[in-house]
Amino acid sequence: MTQSIAAPRLSKKIQSLQGGAESSFVRMVRMASSVPDLISLGRGDPDVPTPPHIVEAALRVIQSQRVNYTAPVGMPELREAIAHKLKVENGLTYDPATEVIVTAGAQEAMSVVMQTLLDPGDEVLLPDPYYTAYEMAIGLTGGVVKRVPTAAEDDFEVKVDAIEACITPRSRVLVLVSPNNPTGAVISAATLAQIAELVLKHNLIVISDELYEKIIFDGAEAPSIVHLPGMFERTIIINGFSKTYCMTGFRVGYLAGPAALVTPMQEVHHTLTICAPTASQHAALAALTGSQDCVIEIVGIFAARRRVLLDALTRAGIPYPQPAGAFFAFADIRKTGLTSADFAMKALTEAAVLVFPGTQYGPGGEGFLRISYLAEPSAIETAVARLGDVF
Ligand SMILES: Cc1ncc(COP(=O)(O)O)c(C=O)c1O
Repeated sequence: MTQSIAAPRLSKKIQSLQGGAESSFVRMVRMASSVPDLISLGRGDPDVPTPPHIVEAALRVIQSQRVNYTAPVGMPELREAIAHKLKVENGLTYDPATEVIVTAGAQEAMSVVMQTLLDPGDEVLLPDPYYTAYEMAIGLTGGVVKRVPTAAEDDFEVKVDAIEACITPRSRVLVLVSPNNPTGAVISAATLAQIAELVLKHNLIVISDELYEKIIFDGAEAPSIVHLPGMFERTIIINGFSKTYCMTGFRVGYLAGPAALVTPMQEVHHTLTICAPTASQHAALAALTGSQDCVIEIVGIFAARRRVLLDALTRAGIPYPQPAGAFFAFADIRKTGLTSADFAMKALTEAAVLVFPGTQYGPGGEGFLRISYLAEPSAIETAVARLGDVF
């Protein structure tokens, strides 16, 4: 019998990672598209326009009709601008030729790093709840996610004891995302000092995802572990332009780390994307070299909306741990007795509000909802009032 070419033939890896099924994220977004009068506080995608000088830089390249590949690791001027930013703002010295790679968003950087560092069975310590793409990026290499529990009572800051309890002889990499998506948590200098000691003791590599570096409020600080003794040699910083400059669709980010780790990543990156989109690289260059007033303006808009969201949650009687950064609240719905998935589905179907269940970000998110504040203040207030009714 001839077999249909359409017969599913999924790899065991994909089947084990997602059962070949639609993810809850895709399902909710699909369902939301047919909900009338929907207010979306779902995706982490800013609705604030990209600053005009950044858009114009991309347009100039497109209009030149010369939109060619760049060097695989990124335009030299952009790598230099990134190294300059890291020097001036972060006090870090990276060689733009060998220690910086421009990627198609921080998202690609995550995959490049995992593909380069992990062998099948190697374990990655991932504080839970986590940005879900890490789980897939690790799983696709045959690596194993070791979820490190965090607690609402600690405002979801990861603790050294919790990390240590998850360490085994196969532990290779520790992922730190501060400020964090989905919880908004930051990791304090004191906690980082303890973590750095543990990292040295167990010879781990650290991935420090600093994408929300500038999206931080009320005087909170999110120091980077890379500054601590012995950490520069074993830390890969992942960062990008999506959130700080409202450039999500441009798809440009970067990774930086010591040449011994980053040079082998060049070919992995080349295989995945050849190079980050050329017009977007020019836009990113304009973002870094232009006035940074736009960042102050953008973060100001987020800060005002955050206040609107947190005040509305308080009025609705929905508790939440303090989010220090990123653009989410992680609302605590435990006292309703509903699962996160059931509450989010009720919110969608009965209240026409799209928010994501905490469990979409790992089992540690059970009892919580991720609510973004990337909408007009009046829409945020209406949405939270509707959520209050469900609550
Ligand atoms: C923690 C974190 N890392 C990486 C990414 C990917 O961002 P980018 O748009 O730069 O690919 C996101 C996107 O939401 C994120 O929240």
